[in-house]
Amino acid sequence: MQQTLYVNIKYLINIRKKSSELRGKELENLPVLKDAFLFIEDGVIKDYGLMRDILVSGYQSATETVDVANASVLPCWCDSHTHLIFAASRENEFIDRIKGLSYADIAAKGGGILNSAKKLNETSEEVLYIQALQRLNEVIQLGTGAIEIKSGYGLSTDDEIKMLRVIKELRHHSPIPIKATFFAAHAFPEKYKNNHKDYIDLIINEMLPKIAEENLADYIDVFCEEGFFNVKETEQICRAGIEYGLTPKIHSNQLSLSGGTQIGVKLNAISVDHLETMDEDAIETLSNSQTIGTLLPTAAYFLRMNFPPARKLIEAGCAIALASDFNPGTSPSGNMNTVVSMSCIQMKMLPEEAINAATINGAYAMNLGNEVGSITIGKKANLIFTKNISSIAYIPYSFGTNLIDKVMIDGKFISE
Ligand code: NIG
Ligand code: FE
Repeated sequence: MQQTLYVNIKYLINIRKKSSELRGKELENLPVLKDAFLFIEDGVIKDYGLMRDILVSGYQSATETVDVANASVLPCWCDSHTHLIFAASRENEFIDRIKGLSYADIAAKGGGILNSAKKLNETSEEVLYIQALQRLNEVIQLGTGAIEIKSGYGLSTDDEIKMLRVIKELRHHSPIPIKATFFAAHAFPEKYKNNHKDYIDLIINEMLPKIAEENLADYIDVFCEEGFFNVKETEQICRAGIEYGLTPKIHSNQLSLSGGTQIGVKLNAISVDHLETMDEDAIETLSNSQTIGTLLPTAAYFLRMNFPPARKLIEAGCAIALASDFNPGTSPSGNMNTVVSMSCIQMKMLPEEAINAATINGAYAMNLGNEVGSITIGKKANLIFTKNISSIAYIPYSFGTNLIDKVMIDGKFISE
């Protein structure tokens, strides 16, 4: 049995006796213990308390005591929306957009998702795995301690399965929990451009049964957007996924009022993600549901779009999570520290709200609320140890500065 006592923690952040997802006003409450200790046994949080109570705690007999000398400790980021598997970067499109083309213009001329699908088709499963593992290790160093990864650059049975197998392989080798999302409904491949029905049939009748048979996915995603999948198609694909045991988790209201939020709620989606373009009806529908609204501010930033209306969503009582959307087209960064800062700066989220949305609510947005996302007895010791910070607000305030001293996964520090 490995027992370690960590002492002299300046702020022990997001301690919770019982955990549940947070909505509306609750997001403001980030429980913190100042001048604390933390006791970890075999990779699991066993106890915590104030330094002044350490003598009575009886933990000094732990095999190892580590003085963290005023580091602060918080749960690792829970990044509930990524497209971490891709074959190539897309900086040419980045330049096209600097010169004035829109994301939709680029997609319409065969760039965007279809460009990524072509590159992925030419890349072997082995190479995709090596590239993805490197990205995964990078984001773990940046404090991510649980992650969701989507397919969606395959767009054919073989290539979608190739992507999902890479995710499965990552899951076997990665120290952090990984959830997989089947996302063939990301775009219509060129040959189905004018024949949506046949592509949807392929997803439902060929891809889904194979994926279910190999148990390759937890969620089903659809890009419910003008020029991509409409509400009716989204519903049909999600319902088929539900038949195979997959929970909907959908891209909605990114570029237009697509109706994705309403259909997501109707289908009991675990989350509806993006939400840059929301009206009163979409906000109200979300607030009256169990579905989490996941905001991806770095994608809005990268595309120079309006940011999601975080304040309105919180004021309406929605449960909000934050995620990176790590992908080569709209957010070529999986840095959750940036996501948290940007949420405070551009969406006027309070530091406490942003940290809760990127930890505990991110965990619930991938059904990992019982394992990660808060300092709770019995949860995994997937934790960020910071450099000496002056306050909690200093975390998002000091954007661009790396405040992470060490990252702990399953009770062990990850080395670079
Ligand atoms: O979440 N919006 C759709 N899908 C991705 C972008 C995919 C791409 O451009 O490669 C997103 O932003
Ligand atoms: Fe996305």
